[in-house]
Amino acid sequence: MRVRVPAKVNLQLGVGPIREDGYHDLVNVFHAVSLFDELTAEPADGLELAVEAAPYSRVAIGRVPTDARNLAARAAVLVASRLGVEPRVRLRIRKAIPVAGGMAGGSADAAAALVACARLWDDRERPALSRDDLMEMGAELGSDVPFALLGGTAIGVGRGERLTPALTRGTFHWVFAAADGGLSTPAVYAECDRLRDAAGESAPRPSVAEDLMTALATGDAKALGAALANDLQPAALELRPSLARTLNAGRDLGAIGALVSGSGPTCAFLAETDEDAADLAVALDGAGVAEQIVRAQGPVPGATVL
Ligand code: C5P
Repeated sequence: MRVRVPAKVNLQLGVGPIREDGYHDLVNVFHAVSLFDELTAEPADGLELAVEAAPYSRVAIGRVPTDARNLAARAAVLVASRLGVEPRVRLRIRKAIPVAGGMAGGSADAAAALVACARLWDDRERPALSRDDLMEMGAELGSDVPFALLGGTAIGVGRGERLTPALTRGTFHWVFAAADGGLSTPAVYAECDRLRDAAGESAPRPSVAEDLMTALATGDAKALGAALANDLQPAALELRPSLARTLNAGRDLGAIGALVSGSGPTCAFLAETDEDAADLAVALDGAGVAEQIVRAQGPVPGATVL
């Protein structure tokens, strides 16, 4: 069983107040891009996990846990318990999505493992897991997992897991600048709270940006670039000041939109055409402001069996 699963970039990440469960109320416009991890699952004596970098990728796999903490391993255990079977599976993950990069790589791997294990342990003797079952298990594993199953472009509310697909037209061309070393998502949310406290601001109740939704529906890349917004960006910049240089370099080199992806540190740049994206990627590479530059297009489908 081989499953391909995309990275995401947040086109809008509106962070509201902290809830009682410690999560923040979000308005999260997710967009799946053609930067993929690949997961294979095959029968084994127990639960085994191996992680390798995809060919030509410089993704730092050293920081990915290969034990039971790995979100893909946890996904396999969850599927097994739901089906009442033993989690006897060998999972192999080929990573191209930056690790702890704000592109939901771990969530993507979990989504891939849900799909792969549900298929692997599918048996006529018992009812198969439905798409809704997988979405529900995904939400249990992490806020971004359901979107990695769904793909495309979608609005997530709640802690980001309650999804509605968004209408989009055409293809958007992206360049991503992956940084050396990741950022911890909880640390970035905590910094966002701290900055708001220090400024005496109360958290706004986020709402979907109408100009963003119109830009998506009409396929207007320039308008999309102008509408990109991430409430976590000031916190990511505070924790990693060098990102300001990366963002400025992208803007100076012609990006029509620039923002930190999710909790960072990956920076996302929008270009108007495929050719512009190619030029921007080369220029950013030359500027030496990132560990690795990758191009990708969106939207693309979520976790897919190959
Ligand atoms: O759900 P997930 O495990 O991906 O979230 C990682 C961390 O991000 C959480 O532990 C929390 O600190 C933060 N988070 C949050 N509010 C959300 C989603 C995530 O504070 N809506």
